[in-house]
Amino acid sequence: MIDLRSDTITKPTDGMRRAMANALVGDDVYHDDPTVNALEEHVARLLGTEAAMYVPTGTMSNQVAIRVHTQPGDSVVIEALGHIGNHELGGAAHHSGVTLNRIQGTLGTFTTDQLVDVVPVPHPAMPSHLYDPHTLVCLENTHNLAGGTIWPIDQLRDVTQTAVDLGMARHLDGARIWNATAASGVGPNEYAALFDTVSVCFSKGLGAPVGSALCGPADTISEARRFKQMFGGGFRQAGIIAAGALYALNNNRERLVEDHVNAQTFAHGVAEIEGVTVNLDAVQTNIVNFSVRDPGRIVDACLTDGLAMLVNGPQEIRAVFSMEADAADTKKAIAIVAEALRAD
Ligand SMILES: Cc1ncc(COP(=O)(O)O)c(C=O)c1O
Repeated sequence: MIDLRSDTITKPTDGMRRAMANALVGDDVYHDDPTVNALEEHVARLLGTEAAMYVPTGTMSNQVAIRVHTQPGDSVVIEALGHIGNHELGGAAHHSGVTLNRIQGTLGTFTTDQLVDVVPVPHPAMPSHLYDPHTLVCLENTHNLAGGTIWPIDQLRDVTQTAVDLGMARHLDGARIWNATAASGVGPNEYAALFDTVSVCFSKGLGAPVGSALCGPADTISEARRFKQMFGGGFRQAGIIAAGALYALNNNRERLVEDHVNAQTFAHGVAEIEGVTVNLDAVQTNIVNFSVRDPGRIVDACLTDGLAMLVNGPQEIRAVFSMEADAADTKKAIAIVAEALRAD
């Protein structure tokens, strides 16, 4: 089976498993786990932040960040297709009591004007307490549902500076920041410098089995540790899994460009097939979204022939490239899609 459903399906390699088996561990709730501590220091160094906190999932990392930056009743601005507003099951409302104010973006990004437009400016004749306080903006880089798209760094600078001018905190869902960096050459620290907090994941293209980290200033991360515990994220001998994350950071970042090459090959290959439409400009990292008339039928037919992908909307299919699919798999995947379309 060629599995292009997601980059979260990656499995630990033998080297990673050995690192995990040999990890030194302690009780992380007491900050006693040397491997978790080493991971947190390493991630903070890479991101150029004062501190980092290892958490079980990217969802928890985002949710803790929202809790840290907001008060119940606040509004959080996100791009309409952002993970926080589409795959975190109302967590922002449940955990933090906030509402989400969504901006319809372009390829997962939006402009300073769009941000300014959604933040209410009370007219002097109206009491300002009648308006939802917009206290946080959450951006996503790369942007998952938009197809692994990258925020251009200049646009990111403008939008985050506007957020500062509007008195808002800035959080980056950088689950795939490693892909953004591999494709753009912009360092994770350059991205992180524009935000108060950044969430990064080890369990996607990097291939670690578990875990994410929330990065930011020491006092913010210290406050975040309280919410990690409150949300049930205090994991004890977590060094076993943190060792996988450390291994992933040290060994699997550079190879991400291979996934990007395979995504390009696949996108150009399926674009040639009659009945398929692909916005090739949107294929910037390891995710390919392409449109067909009946995605459910095509996905089912491909699955029967040994290719797993996901339906991603009424006309869209998503294919995600990771270390689980090499160049030969990519060629085979194009042929399977072509065969499914021929029979359509
Ligand atoms: C952009 C983005 N943010 C956050 C997450 C959540 O990560 P997790 O599955 O570890 O909760 C995902 C998961 O795919 C994601 O794509």
